[in-house]
Amino acid sequence: MKYLALALLLCVLTSLSNSQCFVKQRTPDTENQTHCQDGLDFTWHPKETKWRNSACQDCTCDGCCSGYATPTNFPSDCVSVFDQEACQYVVHKKDDPSVLCPIFGAVGK
Ligand SMILES: *[C@@H]1O[C@H](CO)[C@@H](O)[C@H](O)[C@H]1NC(C)=O
Repeated sequence: MKYLALALLLCVLTSLSNSQCFVKQRTPDTENQTHCQDGLDFTWHPKETKWRNSACQDCTCDGCCSGYATPTNFPSDCVSVFDQEACQYVVHKKDDPSVLCPIFGAVGK
């Protein structure tokens, strides 16, 4: 019962912090004394370092956070598209990609 309350509390705290993070499963298969493995790219990284994986997540051996914010509030004649190279969303006019739109709200990062 105590653990359930703790789990709920952690959930609430995590969602309040407004960043999209998750904790990695650490198993002997995905780490050794000096290195750990990115769960998505299967690349190895020295412990105590940070890296960005191919899903634009900023990771450590403990877990990853999205390295970008997701726009949630922008003018309705605009559309948000994800720029995979820059790891960020751009919001532009639906009928003219060269015109950028203001972003009123975003979640993450
Ligand atoms: C841990 O794994 C990395 C990547 O495979 C390797 O370079 C390193 O030598 C390993 N270290 C130990 C202590 O086994």
